[in-house]
Amino acid sequence: MGSLIFHGHACFEVHADGHRIIFDPFLSDNPTADVRPDELDKIDAILLTHGHGDHVGDAFEIAKRDGATVVAPFELAQFCTKKQGVKAHAMHIGGAWEFPFGRAKMVIAFHGGGVEADEEGIYTTSPCGYLTSIGGKSIYHAGDTALTLEMQLLEGQVDIMLAPIGDNFTMGIEDAVRAVGFVKPEVVIPMHWGTFDLIDVDPNEFVEKVNGAADACVLQPGEAYVW
Ligand code: NI
Ligand code: MN
Repeated sequence: MGSLIFHGHACFEVHADGHRIIFDPFLSDNPTADVRPDELDKIDAILLTHGHGDHVGDAFEIAKRDGATVVAPFELAQFCTKKQGVKAHAMHIGGAWEFPFGRAKMVIAFHGGGVEADEEGIYTTSPCGYLTSIGGKSIYHAGDTALTLEMQLLEGQVDIMLAPIGDNFTMGIEDAVRAVGFVKPEVVIPMHWGTFDLIDVDPNEFVEKVNGAADACVLQPGEAYVW
């Protein structure tokens, strides 16, 4: 039993087995978010895919309020501890760790690695995706990424894929459909669409083009996928 709630953009909250984690909590400045950070229930861990503002979002405020651990690529984790004073667990691409909520493996994403608010520019890192086991499901949050051949390595390992479709900064619909073909998840949920004009694509077009290759499920902010 578990649930995955979409809060808009690339933010998903997962509850399962008494644990509550959140990916990329961009809420306060997200015009499509359905909640404010102070309305969230207590979060155990915050998984960040990269340091851009539309992903780090309210991570530090939530981490301070709840004593939550921020999980992030090494350099971004250093920024969290040294510059923001929050607890962080550093990882890097290819590595996995058993957390109290389940196992998380950091996987490749092709994107920019700068960290917003890093004035010295010394915390630039590799962005990532996460393959996360929680509540008996394997969830792949692809982060912000281009289509990559490396996604083929995930075939057979993913129940629920969270795929960016918005184009311009990440995969667009056609590449995201190819990514579904590489990963072959049971369920795919589109993300990183509709937040800003530059990524205003129609998620229903994605569903049509996936054409049954996976169960494509569009969530609006505030809606949940439950298992
Ligand atoms: Ni980004
Ligand atoms: Mn982004």
